[in-house]
Amino acid sequence: MFITFEGIDGCGKSTQISLFEATLREKGISSVITREPGGTKIGQAIRKILLDLDDTHMVPLAELFLYAADRAQHVREVINPALEAGKWVISDRYVDATTVYQGVVLGHHEELIEQINREATLGCRPDITFLLDCPAEVGLERRAKRDPHNKRKDRFERKTLDFHIKIRYGYLALANKHKDRFRIIDSTLPEDLVARKIREAISPYLP
Ligand code: TMP
Repeated sequence: MFITFEGIDGCGKSTQISLFEATLREKGISSVITREPGGTKIGQAIRKILLDLDDTHMVPLAELFLYAADRAQHVREVINPALEAGKWVISDRYVDATTVYQGVVLGHHEELIEQINREATLGCRPDITFLLDCPAEVGLERRAKRDPHNKRKDRFERKTLDFHIKIRYGYLALANKHKDRFRIIDSTLPEDLVARKIREAISPYLP
């Protein structure tokens, strides 16, 4: 099984992924937890460039190709080998993030994004994508609480509330377009309830 988690910044992905990993461990399922950008050594170097505050002059096409480069490496080095070994792969973000962040918000053409994603992923698609949905204000507030002294936010955290609102609605529209794969979870609910909803959604696939 290949499962991805998506959502705006501060939606609670990291917490839910570690709770989910614990559930899989309890069930005796061998899993690989990974993320984009940064799921490989090369990807970590790419992540550093992408999130670097000093890279304000990065042109949108360079940004798009860097995410694609990270993904091409990630699929071939981590995701596909793990799936072939019969493991479950859980990724914190994947192709949908590019569709929303670089497509809906930065305005790259949908066809170009699809073509690049196809090449980068070798057609490897998630079986299930959890969209942890919450209002942008809630996400930003959580992020600020988690790291109150971080004055030097990354490039994305510096963006306006309007940017994060666009991302949220971009994800919701995408989830409605791919209802077979997406599960929208209200992440304003208490953590344990969110975790339960995720477990319930995955239960048909558990041994
Ligand atoms: P993270 O903080 O959730 O790890 O993600 C880092 C940032 O990268 C996040 O703000 C979203 C952004 N991103 C894109 O813009 N496009 C992508 O394809 C991916 C994977 C992430």
